[in-house]
Amino acid sequence: MDANVLLEINGISKSFGAITAVDDLTLRIAPGEFFALLGPSGCGKTTLLRMIAGFETPDRGQIRLAGSDMTGIKPNRRPINLMFQSYALFPHMTVAGNIGYGLEMEGVRGPGLKRRVGEALELVQLGALADRKPHRLSGGQRQRVALARALIKRPKLLLLDEPLGALDRKLREQMQIELKRIQRDTGITFIVVTHDQEEALTMADRIALLGQGRIVQLGRPRELYEAPVNRFAADFIGMMNFLPGKVTADGVALPGLGVFQASNRSDLPQGVEVVMAIRPERLRLYAEARAAALPGAVEGTAYLGQDLIVHLRLDATGQMLIARLTAGHDLTRDITTGQRLWCDWPGAQARLLAD
Ligand SMILES: Nc1ncnc2c1ncn2[C@@H]1O[C@H](COP(=O)(O)OP(=O)(O)O)[C@@H](O)[C@H]1O
Ligand SMILES: [Mg+2]
Repeated sequence: MDANVLLEINGISKSFGAITAVDDLTLRIAPGEFFALLGPSGCGKTTLLRMIAGFETPDRGQIRLAGSDMTGIKPNRRPINLMFQSYALFPHMTVAGNIGYGLEMEGVRGPGLKRRVGEALELVQLGALADRKPHRLSGGQRQRVALARALIKRPKLLLLDEPLGALDRKLREQMQIELKRIQRDTGITFIVVTHDQEEALTMADRIALLGQGRIVQLGRPRELYEAPVNRFAADFIGMMNFLPGKVTADGVALPGLGVFQASNRSDLPQGVEVVMAIRPERLRLYAEARAAALPGAVEGTAYLGQDLIVHLRLDATGQMLIARLTAGHDLTRDITTGQRLWCDWPGAQARLLAD
């Protein structure tokens, strides 16, 4: 057994009738990792999680945890806990009662139980609410109870399915940081399912981006953002501009716009059709013409406080580019619809995608 692998998923597949939910998926997760499964609705995230937990049986392939084959092992016999999308707390029990229930069922009683419940309450910062009933808690507090209930049994692996989905934005952002702290403090390996790319980027050490039951890209948040492997990955994570073109001897020819450079041009053979992908925050806008900058007209702006989004329609081709200017940029004060601007971008910030 490899000490650097806690969870080993080898070629698992799962179909429901004609639908292939998980398709020959292989993945290794290290102990202590905060791992995110990211992807659009219906791509197989929940099915994968349920197979890891043992609530669903793979049609093919194998799951190993800490070296042991999990095939045929019942969910409650796996050192794994799954926190469900709906928290399902017992309404007639207090917060402390809900949190301690699982341990009590295992025969833990008295001071031992009290201490473990106290520690779990502390971990999720609910000490003051130990005696409350669930109906007197906010959504965020209920979420913490569910988390404490999952953590108290000290699983090797905690699976969380869209854990923050029911919370409003502000609370969600707060809980993202909190979840990360709790994961670090406990050292428990977390696998979090989310369809929210920002959430995955914020929390995870590594992300698997899923599409149609397969891993499209696996890597650290920065790798997924900076070096998406294809158009799906580039589009799903963050905002992106796409300009179609062709690789030539001296750059990338974008029809009607000219020849440009890109960070990974040397990886691709001449003549191949590509799209050039440029993040909105990498575009530079100027109020006056300058060499090699492309002229366009402002079609609209969106003021986000911190940032200004500018939609620029290029004169030469009619293509629309989205630029994101951060407060402090010369132009953020006085861009108006219809205004003429010029744009360019550093070649090193453009990336070519072949599919
Ligand atoms: N029990 C089931 N019966 C039939 N189809 C299912 C079942 N569970 C999931 N599916 C289908 O499998 C695909 C993947 O679903 P799911 O794993 O829930 O995706 P996600 O969690 O990424 O939204 C979807 O097309 C879904 O409709
Ligand atoms: Mg799901």
